[in-house]
Amino acid sequence: MGLAFAHALPEDDFDMDKFVIRGGNPLLGTIRVSGAKNAALPAMAAALLTDEPVILENIPQVRDIETTRKLLAAMGAEVELGYGRAQHRTTLCCRNLASPEASYELVKTMRASTLVLGPLVARCGRARVSLPGGCAIGARPIDLHIKGLESLGATIVQDHGYVEASAKRLKGAEIVFDKITVTGTEDLLMAAALAEGETVMQNCAREPEVADLADLLNKMGARIEGAGTSTIRIKGVEKLHGAKHRIIPDRIEAATFILAGALTGGDINVAGCDPHHLDALLQKLKEVGVKTTHTKESIRVMGDNPLKASDVVTEEYPGFPTDVQAQYMALATQADGTSIITENIFENRFMHAQELVRMGANIKIEGRRAIVRGKAPLSGAAVLASDLRASASLVLAALVADGETIIDRVYHIDRGYENIEEKLRGVGAQIRRLGEILPKKAAGA
Ligand code: EPZ
Repeated sequence: MGLAFAHALPEDDFDMDKFVIRGGNPLLGTIRVSGAKNAALPAMAAALLTDEPVILENIPQVRDIETTRKLLAAMGAEVELGYGRAQHRTTLCCRNLASPEASYELVKTMRASTLVLGPLVARCGRARVSLPGGCAIGARPIDLHIKGLESLGATIVQDHGYVEASAKRLKGAEIVFDKITVTGTEDLLMAAALAEGETVMQNCAREPEVADLADLLNKMGARIEGAGTSTIRIKGVEKLHGAKHRIIPDRIEAATFILAGALTGGDINVAGCDPHHLDALLQKLKEVGVKTTHTKESIRVMGDNPLKASDVVTEEYPGFPTDVQAQYMALATQADGTSIITENIFENRFMHAQELVRMGANIKIEGRRAIVRGKAPLSGAAVLASDLRASASLVLAALVADGETIIDRVYHIDRGYENIEEKLRGVGAQIRRLGEILPKKAAGA
């Protein structure tokens, strides 16, 4: 057990990959979506809740999944991660959890590691998880995760940058989230699944990834109702067993490719997605003048009309997703008129704006609002990726810019997009990866 990747990502190298993109090609053809990173991460954490094997299919081959494999293996879990044509499957067996801990070394590279907090307390009676600290897009505290666990009877101590949680056995409770939190809802959903008695959680996140996690937990023997709505009822059980589950498609990756087709005036078929997860974006694209049609599991984007400016306000699901805000901003730079983009979820999620301005965009930031005036012709430039979705925004802008763009620090995009350059090349984009794998010592990292 415990085989690593079939083709391992450069684990201990300091990769300085860059993308070189030449703009101007309309994207044409079919592009396939991978499994949702933000569904796979909680699903892998859910395996901690049982001593039996959990098999997950449609796992995306992205850096955050490898980080999660390392995180669980460090606790004593056996995680087999196989890729290859038909697989993208992981088998997790958390029979012997020697140390229910998540170290700062790993948590600082992926804040979603805090998803192990609830499952570890529920399964082992204790957990020691590094506080994630802030990240490029905001402070991102986990106070609501902690408050919820305390409601379930956990004793929480925070010191030396770690959260230590313990409980003989969690007890069901009424929990009302002060703010809607996706991983907070997921963390507590997993904790409550093994608590004694019933838990009712209100003001929950309604993202499809929450519902997908509940599907997996119910397959493992949990008794959860209402996931995907704002009120979730969980009847705690003594034990959970193994299960097999297929992760839902990545709606944010799908949204990114849909916007790429629109932006480049192309005609692409985004296959293997769930159009129902994208209602807010599809509605917005109608206002912008982009034609789309869809089947049960694909969306066709025809970008041959001129783009019209349209305002966007990011909200929790089913509103316009904050994870698509940066990509939409790239499109807005090419729309006729002024688009006002309001970011309501994170306090610092406009890092991509200045890089787009360097490419020729006309964007002014006023607090939580970005005023984008189009159509502004973009020209290729050397730009810097700052976080996962900002990187995606720069790729989209580069696809429509005049000339060549070099995007540095591409490891950000590798966290959440599987082989994005191969997928985009498959629909006619001129994109290649400049690999500069330097051993950590040489990079002085
Ligand atoms: C999840 O992050 C996603 N990550 C994010 O995707 C996504 O942007 C975010 O939800 C919003 O949709 C995963 O699912 C792994 P939140 P999460 O808790 O759960 C505040 C990507 O690009 N808050 O819903 O960390 C928080 O600061 C990533 O794939 C508290 O104040 O986000 C934010 O302002 C980026 N206290 C708001 O709530 C808490 O205890 C929403 O955050 C928790 C959150």
